Amino acid sequence: MRMLAATLWRQNFGARSSFLRSTFTPRLRHEKRRTYATSNPEVAGLRVIDHHYDAIVVGAGGAGLRAAVGLTEAGLKTACVSKLFPTRSHTVAAQGGINAALGNMTEDDWRWHFYDTIKGSDWLGDQDSIQYMCRSAVPAIIELEHYGMPFSRTSSGQIYQRALGGQSLKYGKGGQAYRTACAADRTGHAMLHTLYGQSLKSGVNFFIEYFAMDLLMQEGRCVGITALSMEDGTCHRMFARNTVLATGGYGRAYFSATSAHTSTGDGNAMAARAGLPLQDMEFVQFHPSGIYGAGVLITEGARGEGGYLINSHGERFMERYAPTAKDLASRDVVSRSMNLEILQGRGCGPSADHIHLQLSHLPKEIIEERLPGIAETAAIFAGIDVTREPIPVLPTVHYCMGGIPTNWKGQVLDVTEEGDRVVDGLYAAGEAACVSVHGANRLGANSLLDIVVFGRACALHIAENHAPSAPQHPSPPDIGLESFDHLTSLLSTTGKTHTSTLRDKMQRTMQSSTAVFRTHDSLSSGYNELSTIQYTFSQDLQVIDKSLIWNSDLVETLEMRNLLTNAVQTSKAALQRTESRGSHARDDFKERDDRTWMKHSLTWQRDVGEDVRWGTRAVQMQTLDESECKSVPPMKRSY
Ligand code: FUM
Repeated sequence: MRMLAATLWRQNFGARSSFLRSTFTPRLRHEKRRTYATSNPEVAGLRVIDHHYDAIVVGAGGAGLRAAVGLTEAGLKTACVSKLFPTRSHTVAAQGGINAALGNMTEDDWRWHFYDTIKGSDWLGDQDSIQYMCRSAVPAIIELEHYGMPFSRTSSGQIYQRALGGQSLKYGKGGQAYRTACAADRTGHAMLHTLYGQSLKSGVNFFIEYFAMDLLMQEGRCVGITALSMEDGTCHRMFARNTVLATGGYGRAYFSATSAHTSTGDGNAMAARAGLPLQDMEFVQFHPSGIYGAGVLITEGARGEGGYLINSHGERFMERYAPTAKDLASRDVVSRSMNLEILQGRGCGPSADHIHLQLSHLPKEIIEERLPGIAETAAIFAGIDVTREPIPVLPTVHYCMGGIPTNWKGQVLDVTEEGDRVVDGLYAAGEAACVSVHGANRLGANSLLDIVVFGRACALHIAENHAPSAPQHPSPPDIGLESFDHLTSLLSTTGKTHTSTLRDKMQRTMQSSTAVFRTHDSLSSGYNELSTIQYTFSQDLQVIDKSLIWNSDLVETLEMRNLLTNAVQTSKAALQRTESRGSHARDDFKERDDRTWMKHSLTWQRDVGEDVRWGTRAVQMQTLDESECKSVPPMKRSY
């Protein structure tokens, strides 16, 4: 129990550690060392080390590891750069499972999964990517099984699959689907450790506790990244013909989130600083069951196994909002219903400000076998024995649907007046990417699927196009040095406002202005407040620790810069979209407006403090192969 508490504490409160650092410090092969005399007289003599690889993967969660394994197995010399020890990546916290139409519990078909995902996305998802993901789901699970992932089993030995929100049979007409393969309620944990084992087996070169800072861009093409070794303060330029950003989401732009404190949108911000757009940033998912006061996740699988939500009258209120799917309606629907119950005075507790998740009617064996993790989490973070009492829960920020626009092969897209342009050498996968399979709202258990399917897709596309005879990536002598200049300027700040103060302001601003329900007034006051925070960040910042050795003050400041550009682009995109769709619920524009808004939004901001530019891009309504599955035209979304 004590060990579990420590693990949860680390997952949720983001302590960094130099654990095993010495054992895993990478051998710096192919490196060229030199001293770079900075233009800042305060901090001279940064050590810059150059590396050359065939491919670089930034991030060591599920998407990053799956990409790195695929690349290494294809014979590419691959570096995986991660600010965390890989098994601490946020994938570890995923609980409920991974969707695939295996058909182990009932008849199933990946086309039904495809339909549910489009409906869940409120028709903002790109249907070619959704087809690719759902079609690839069954082989992806088989692959994980062969990698050794310890899935839960049925009594006949097949992979067990549970019910989860928004999943149906027969295109919504056949009742609830049981499509979510799981490892009890620790599926992400099982997946991450499995993939990490595979990455060691295949020989990925890890750069652990290295903070990726900027993309190296040469004439519109990506040729690598810059990074800071947090352990010894050395600066690194890592060159490669292909770079994959798999850096996760930016949930920590908000005050209360199920995301790890390290979910700071680093890859999104790297792309933004390179002048690339971010897509659909207004769509931020609130998970219905974050523990009240702690924000820690209680899996939707708890409702999948038979749990339900009640208000202060003891009423199962979801029956009123979603008469068919009830507690297993799509997350956006459940979160809004919970908020309405609270707003209408039927919240639970002394302040009538939360909802109860009832599990005490479930047989003890179900809790022990299928939900052991959340029973412990509820005990630790809410002091609740789930076999006797309901868990106090509240919708909590959980997932960012928006991110770096890519096509279904994982290639990053720039968008200009001429249309989409593939950015040569740059890929993105997982929560950092907006591929876009989740559109305006992601279905539970589609994110573990997304990360393995598109991590693999990036590796496949890079490997297919990697001819050993192709020209080496360019590595001009001065490229990327401004990234290190930025470090030195942060170390010599003379302002009075500490990063933690600004971060707290930003998180509270996002929490109150860009919440489950939004209006023009809340959003514009949030946007203005973020402008003030950006101004203070650029004019009055104080980084107290001036060293380069394990400087968490500096790293948190780099993360804050990244969070800020994610937050301000989220705010801008939410302000612009005058309709309600999926997770974006405007109280002043309550209906979905397909005529005006059936399109992705795009935002650009190179540097914190700059005005955010806004634009749009068409949704891909065509599937990859119409003979296999036809595109699903928009219709009214009800559960
Ligand atoms: O509720 C959950 O277990 C979360 C799953 C997911 O976000 O995919």
